[in-house]
Amino acid sequence: MALEAWFMDESNEDQQLPHHRNPKQLVSLDYLADLGVLYWRLNPNDYENDEELRKIREARGYNYMDLLDLCPEKVANYEEKVKNFYTEHIHADEEIRYCLEGSGYFDVRDKEDQWIRIWIKAGDLIILPAGIYHRFTLDTNNYVKLMRLFVGEPVWTAYNRPQENHPARKEYIKGLTWKLGVPLEAH
Ligand code: LAC
Ligand code: NI
Repeated sequence: MALEAWFMDESNEDQQLPHHRNPKQLVSLDYLADLGVLYWRLNPNDYENDEELRKIREARGYNYMDLLDLCPEKVANYEEKVKNFYTEHIHADEEIRYCLEGSGYFDVRDKEDQWIRIWIKAGDLIILPAGIYHRFTLDTNNYVKLMRLFVGEPVWTAYNRPQENHPARKEYIKGLTWKLGVPLEAH
Protein backbone atom coordinates (compact mmCIF):
# COMPACT_ATOMS: atom_id res chain seq x y z
CA MET A 1 0.00 0.00 0.00
CA ALA A 2 1.41 3.34 -1.03
CA LEU A 3 1.50 6.33 1.26
CA GLU A 4 -1.92 7.85 1.89
CA ALA A 5 -2.34 11.62 1.91
CA TRP A 6 -5.39 13.84 1.58
CA PHE A 7 -6.71 17.39 1.83
CA MET A 8 -8.13 18.08 5.27
CA ASP A 9 -11.58 19.35 6.12
CA GLU A 10 -12.06 22.55 8.14
CA SER A 11 -13.53 20.96 11.25
CA ASN A 12 -12.06 21.57 14.70
CA GLU A 13 -12.96 18.10 15.92
CA ASP A 14 -10.44 15.81 17.60
CA GLN A 15 -7.06 16.21 15.82
CA GLN A 16 -6.48 12.44 15.98
CA LEU A 17 -9.41 11.75 13.63
CA PRO A 18 -8.64 11.48 9.87
CA HIS A 19 -10.33 14.77 8.85
CA HIS A 20 -11.08 13.75 5.27
CA ARG A 21 -13.02 16.17 3.10
CA ASN A 22 -16.41 15.03 1.83
CA PRO A 23 -15.98 13.65 -0.80
CA LYS A 24 -12.44 12.47 -0.08
CA GLN A 25 -9.70 14.35 -1.93
CA LEU A 26 -6.54 12.30 -2.09
CA VAL A 27 -3.09 13.77 -2.72
CA SER A 28 -0.46 12.04 -4.88
CA LEU A 29 3.24 11.55 -4.19
CA ASP A 30 3.95 13.87 -7.13
CA TYR A 31 1.92 16.61 -5.50
CA LEU A 32 3.91 16.14 -2.30
CA ALA A 33 7.22 16.06 -4.19
CA ASP A 34 6.30 19.42 -5.74
CA LEU A 35 6.14 20.82 -2.19
CA GLY A 36 9.56 19.31 -1.49
CA VAL A 37 8.18 16.43 0.60
CA LEU A 38 10.04 13.19 -0.15
CA TYR A 39 8.99 9.64 0.60
CA TRP A 40 10.48 6.15 0.76
CA ARG A 41 8.88 2.83 1.66
CA LEU A 42 11.32 0.63 3.59
CA ASN A 43 11.29 -2.60 5.57
CA PRO A 44 10.94 -1.58 9.23
CA ASN A 45 11.51 -5.08 10.64
CA ASP A 46 15.26 -5.15 10.26
CA TYR A 47 16.06 -1.45 10.23
CA GLU A 48 19.41 -1.96 11.93
CA ASN A 49 20.76 -3.89 8.93
CA ASP A 50 18.72 -2.31 6.16
CA GLU A 51 20.91 -1.62 3.15
CA GLU A 52 18.35 0.72 1.58
CA LEU A 53 18.20 2.88 4.70
CA ARG A 54 21.99 2.87 4.90
CA LYS A 55 22.21 4.17 1.33
CA ILE A 56 19.70 6.97 1.96
CA ARG A 57 21.56 8.01 5.10
CA GLU A 58 24.87 7.96 3.29
CA ALA A 59 23.61 9.87 0.23
CA ARG A 60 22.00 12.60 2.34
CA GLY A 61 24.59 12.74 5.11
CA TYR A 62 22.27 11.64 7.91
CA ASN A 63 24.92 10.61 10.42
CA TYR A 64 22.73 11.31 13.48
CA MET A 65 19.95 8.91 14.49
CA ASP A 66 17.72 8.41 17.50
CA LEU A 67 14.38 6.77 18.29
CA LEU A 68 11.30 8.49 19.65
CA ASP A 69 8.78 6.17 21.28
CA LEU A 70 5.74 8.38 21.58
CA CYS A 71 3.75 7.16 24.56
CA PRO A 72 3.13 8.75 27.98
CA GLU A 73 5.32 6.23 29.83
CA LYS A 74 8.44 6.80 27.75
CA VAL A 75 8.44 10.51 27.04
CA ALA A 76 9.10 13.26 29.57
CA ASN A 77 6.50 16.08 29.43
CA TYR A 78 4.38 13.98 27.08
CA GLU A 79 1.31 16.26 27.08
CA GLU A 80 3.37 19.36 26.41
CA LYS A 81 5.38 17.71 23.63
CA VAL A 82 2.28 16.38 21.89
CA LYS A 83 0.73 19.85 22.07
CA ASN A 84 3.85 21.49 20.62
CA PHE A 85 4.08 18.95 17.80
CA TYR A 86 0.60 20.03 16.69
CA THR A 87 1.36 23.74 16.77
CA GLU A 88 2.06 24.89 13.20
CA HIS A 89 5.80 25.52 12.81
CA ILE A 90 8.90 25.38 10.63
CA HIS A 91 12.49 24.29 11.23
CA ALA A 92 15.77 25.63 9.88
CA ASP A 93 16.57 22.09 8.67
CA GLU A 94 14.80 19.14 7.11
CA GLU A 95 12.58 17.04 9.36
CA ILE A 96 13.33 13.39 8.61
CA ARG A 97 11.11 10.78 10.21
CA TYR A 98 11.02 7.03 9.68
CA CYS A 99 8.03 5.21 11.18
CA LEU A 100 9.08 1.88 12.72
CA GLU A 101 5.86 1.01 14.58
CA GLY A 102 2.40 2.47 14.99
CA SER A 103 1.21 5.39 12.89
CA GLY A 104 0.53 9.11 12.91
CA TYR A 105 -0.27 12.18 10.84
CA PHE A 106 2.17 14.73 9.48
CA ASP A 107 0.21 17.72 8.18
CA VAL A 108 1.88 20.07 5.69
CA ARG A 109 0.67 23.25 3.99
CA ASP A 110 0.52 23.30 0.21
CA LYS A 111 1.17 26.35 -2.01
CA GLU A 112 -2.39 27.60 -1.48
CA ASP A 113 -2.01 27.19 2.27
CA GLN A 114 -4.32 24.18 2.43
CA TRP A 115 -3.58 21.46 4.96
CA ILE A 116 -2.54 18.09 3.55
CA ARG A 117 -2.63 15.17 5.98
CA ILE A 118 0.04 12.50 5.43
CA TRP A 119 -0.65 9.18 7.16
CA ILE A 120 2.61 7.50 8.04
CA LYS A 121 2.77 3.87 9.10
CA ALA A 122 5.51 1.32 9.80
CA GLY A 123 7.94 1.42 6.87
CA ASP A 124 7.25 5.00 5.78
CA LEU A 125 10.18 7.40 5.72
CA ILE A 126 9.36 11.03 4.96
CA ILE A 127 11.43 14.15 4.62
CA LEU A 128 9.84 17.54 5.15
CA PRO A 129 11.97 20.32 3.65
CA ALA A 130 13.35 23.14 5.80
CA GLY A 131 10.89 26.03 5.94
CA ILE A 132 7.65 24.14 5.19
CA TYR A 133 4.81 24.83 7.63
CA HIS A 134 3.81 21.58 9.27
CA ARG A 135 2.60 19.82 12.43
CA PHE A 136 2.31 16.29 13.79
CA THR A 137 -0.31 14.33 15.69
CA LEU A 138 -0.90 10.76 16.75
CA ASP A 139 -3.92 9.11 15.12
CA THR A 140 -6.58 7.17 17.04
CA ASN A 141 -4.17 4.24 17.53
CA ASN A 142 -2.34 6.52 19.92
CA TYR A 143 1.13 5.15 19.38
CA VAL A 144 4.09 5.73 17.12
CA LYS A 145 7.76 4.81 17.18
CA LEU A 146 9.82 7.13 15.00
CA MET A 147 13.42 7.16 13.93
CA ARG A 148 14.74 10.71 13.72
CA LEU A 149 17.61 11.40 11.37
CA PHE A 150 19.75 14.52 11.03
CA VAL A 151 22.90 15.90 9.44
CA GLY A 152 25.35 16.53 12.29
CA GLU A 153 24.30 17.65 15.78
CA PRO A 154 20.49 17.67 15.85
CA VAL A 155 18.58 20.93 16.30
CA TRP A 156 14.90 20.35 16.99
CA THR A 157 13.99 24.03 17.46
CA ALA A 158 10.48 24.77 16.19
CA TYR A 159 9.60 28.28 15.00
CA ASN A 160 5.87 28.76 15.26
CA ARG A 161 3.94 30.46 12.49
CA PRO A 162 4.19 33.25 11.33
CA GLN A 163 7.83 33.02 10.17
CA GLU A 164 7.78 34.82 6.82
CA ASN A 165 11.15 36.47 7.51
CA HIS A 166 12.94 33.34 8.69
CA PRO A 167 15.79 32.54 6.24
CA ALA A 168 14.65 28.91 5.91
CA ARG A 169 11.12 30.06 5.10
CA LYS A 170 12.38 32.54 2.49
CA GLU A 171 14.58 29.88 0.88
CA TYR A 172 11.68 27.45 0.82
CA ILE A 173 9.33 29.98 -0.81
CA LYS A 174 12.02 30.91 -3.33
CA GLY A 175 12.30 27.25 -4.37
CA LEU A 176 8.52 26.94 -4.76
CA THR A 177 8.19 30.16 -6.77
CA TRP A 178 10.92 29.07 -9.12
CA LYS A 179 9.13 25.80 -9.83
CA LEU A 180 5.82 27.63 -10.30
CA GLY A 181 7.52 30.13 -12.63
CA VAL A 182 8.52 27.56 -15.21
CA PRO A 183 5.05 26.61 -16.52
CA LEU A 184 3.89 30.24 -16.20
CA GLU A 185 6.70 31.56 -18.38
CA ALA A 186 5.96 28.99 -21.07
CA HIS A 187 2.70 30.74 -22.03
C1 LAC B 1 8.14 16.00 15.49
C2 LAC B 1 8.03 14.65 16.08
C3 LAC B 1 6.83 13.93 15.73
O1 LAC B 1 9.25 16.49 15.48
O2 LAC B 1 9.15 13.92 15.80
O3 LAC B 1 7.15 16.58 15.04
NI1 NI C 1 8.49 19.81 13.09
